[in-house]
Amino acid sequence: MAEAARSEEPYNQAFAPSAQSANGEEGVGATDLALKALKERPKFTIRMQVYLTVVLSLVIFFSIAMALLVTTYMIEDKVRLLEISNSYLFEIQQARRFEKNYFLYGTNLADALENIYAAKRILLESSDRLKGAMDNDSLAAILSHLAQYEGLLEKLENIELNPKADDYFWKKRDAEVEVRKHGQEMVSFAQDLMLKEKATLDRMIVLSRRVHIYSFAFLFLFFVFNTYFLGRRISRPLRRFVSYAERIATGDYTPIMPARRYRDEFSNLAVSINFMIRELERRHEILVQTHKLRAIGTLTAGVAHELNNPINNISLTAHMFLEDYKSLPDEERLEMINDIIGEVARTKKIVRNLLDFARESESSMQSLDLGNVIKDTLALAGNQIAISGIHVDLSIMPNLPRVYGDGRQLEQVFLNLILNAIDVTPKGGRIQILVIPADEPNYLAVKVTDYGPGIPDHILRSIFDPFFTTKSKGTGLGLSICQGIVAKHGGHISVSTKVGSGTTFVVQLPATAFPADLKHVTST
Ligand SMILES: Nc1ncnc2c1ncn2[C@@H]1O[C@H](COP(=O)(O)OP(=O)(O)O)[C@@H](O)[C@H]1O
Ligand SMILES: [Mg+2]
Repeated sequence: MAEAARSEEPYNQAFAPSAQSANGEEGVGATDLALKALKERPKFTIRMQVYLTVVLSLVIFFSIAMALLVTTYMIEDKVRLLEISNSYLFEIQQARRFEKNYFLYGTNLADALENIYAAKRILLESSDRLKGAMDNDSLAAILSHLAQYEGLLEKLENIELNPKADDYFWKKRDAEVEVRKHGQEMVSFAQDLMLKEKATLDRMIVLSRRVHIYSFAFLFLFFVFNTYFLGRRISRPLRRFVSYAERIATGDYTPIMPARRYRDEFSNLAVSINFMIRELERRHEILVQTHKLRAIGTLTAGVAHELNNPINNISLTAHMFLEDYKSLPDEERLEMINDIIGEVARTKKIVRNLLDFARESESSMQSLDLGNVIKDTLALAGNQIAISGIHVDLSIMPNLPRVYGDGRQLEQVFLNLILNAIDVTPKGGRIQILVIPADEPNYLAVKVTDYGPGIPDHILRSIFDPFFTTKSKGTGLGLSICQGIVAKHGGHISVSTKVGSGTTFVVQLPATAFPADLKHVTST
């Protein structure tokens, strides 16, 4: 599993589109890329893993059962063999006892032979089993011992038939020596063999016990590991998806990238969520545009007022020009026409400014001077500020590094903050705007401070929520949109406020001329 975790890296690096996801149009491209990456991996679903586990468990289980069966069978065989050898040994020992009686008292020779025949029968009846369980040499040795002993006993019987013979005594003595020798060998060989077989049986029982213990231990470990890994395969992605949901809720619409080597049920979930993200992003764009139009509505009064001056000037100059046309010297005529051209240029600029801001344009990321962005924003809101009789303290620290972003979107962020500040600032009041390096290294900060009523705690909790507003004509979208845009730029927005003293909103953006390392590019 640790292996799989490491292998996540290449996917992240290959597909994580940090720059693309920072803007709308290419963000859709990022979704497609994510979908492709999600679908392209080899398939190994959780269901497949469960099936595989079951099949593997069965195979292991049956192998163990077979092994146990075989060892039990082998032990049973050995026990049978020992039983046979035991009866055999009993018979030949009995034969020897009678043999002794015969030599001592001259009785029981027939009984000894009887026992030998019985021993022979035992061997013959179990010959198949013996052949399987014993090596051929041992079996042959036993048989030959038995045959020799039997032969000798029969020979004695023959001698007994003729006790009157001259050589009876000598023959009997010779035979006795041989019988004793062979009888001894026969019994001790059989005893040795039996001892050996007993030792083998002991070893087999120990082995069988080991097979039992080891195989059940193995089966147990197999189940434990498998349950553990299966659990991890399910719980880990669940945890990841919880974090995805949380991040999407904050407005981070970066698509989900593959986190694992294999495609499974969670990949389908990721695909669906990516579709949802794309749809959410689209709707979010519409909201942003709606809110922008609303801000433009607010600005229109100021712009109309601002347009009034140049138009009045144009009108005045044109009338003078018409009335005094004949009496005017050439230079003055020229001057008046230049005046008119200048004023027209001013009106054009005012209108273009507003149109530029209003236009629904594709996002374009570039290196920007943050001070200039603030100045452009103030130009847009300039008349609103003038009408409200508010004074803006602007201070921009010189020689600041640049930021990488979409100028128009950032203008929207600062305009929202400035309009909110204007809303709470009484006529003749003051707003302060600072552009400085942030406390966090490699970040720039824009601080917009008002000296209005501040925000009480119970409201503060909700100000970034979409549609939360305390104003009769508010949309409640301003701050939520600010947050979204700033997050897309890899920055963050925070607020500090004191009831009765005022509020400061701080926007922090990464200082870089290159695509921001967006923190939220999530692919884990
Ligand atoms: N500078 C501020 N001073 C006090 N309250 C503020 C300030 N900025 C925002 N708020 C509060 O946050 C709420 C949400 O602001 P916003 O999202 O911009 O929506 P809207 O301006 O449409 O109400 C406002 O209604 C207001 O109550
Ligand atoms: Mg607002």
